[in-house]
Amino acid sequence: MKEKNPPFHLDSNIKTIVFDVYGTLFDVSSVKKACDQLFPLKGEEISHTWRKKQIEYMFLLQLIDRYESFDSVTRRALRHAVHASGEVLSTDQEDTLFAAYMKLEAFPESLEVLKMLQRKGYHIGVFSNGTNTMLGGLLQGTAFLDQLDFILSVDSKKQYKPTKAAYQIVETDTKTNPEDTLFVSSNGWDIVGANNYGFQTVWVNRAGQTKDELSLPPNYIMDDLSSLAGN
Ligand code: LAC
Repeated sequence: MKEKNPPFHLDSNIKTIVFDVYGTLFDVSSVKKACDQLFPLKGEEISHTWRKKQIEYMFLLQLIDRYESFDSVTRRALRHAVHASGEVLSTDQEDTLFAAYMKLEAFPESLEVLKMLQRKGYHIGVFSNGTNTMLGGLLQGTAFLDQLDFILSVDSKKQYKPTKAAYQIVETDTKTNPEDTLFVSSNGWDIVGANNYGFQTVWVNRAGQTKDELSLPPNYIMDDLSSLAGN
């Protein structure tokens, strides 16, 4: 039986709202179509393994203190995913699929919610493990750019989320206090990290996942971003 999410209310002290990008504003599974075009009927398998390996490599490289930028990690994970499906990946095919990753589809409610929050006067931006080039590719030429007061990448510190050093970029760059900052992510590990840093947190549980058992639960849980704008 799925638990009902408690009602969400934006605390009056919140001044800044920070959004994770991949999986939160943009749908990483939308790259499936491009994978299917190159590897018919294997798009689902490849895109799923791609995301899983991307996050696994990111954690591993952070833990062994051998940071590589997210574009390199994303390419390495893609190679693994294609090889694991029994296919061979040419350089051109890798470039084609990486280009598709730079143009992921936004979730349907993402832009409208940002517009509503912007109209309410919140300081809004994105903070991602993606590089500035990747984020630029994703956001350039979209209406998202008009809604964002800041676009931040961990690449400036070469420390991935969920480390404290990564989230400090937000506090330093936006000059706001963590307790006045709401951090929104669909990635449970990102919520744990943001909570650990001191942000208020919203877990966007798009996939209806079971709650984690760590001691840093999200302040709020919602199925998609719509509830954010309801306040
Ligand atoms: C991001 C993904 C990795 O940082 O959650 O945008």
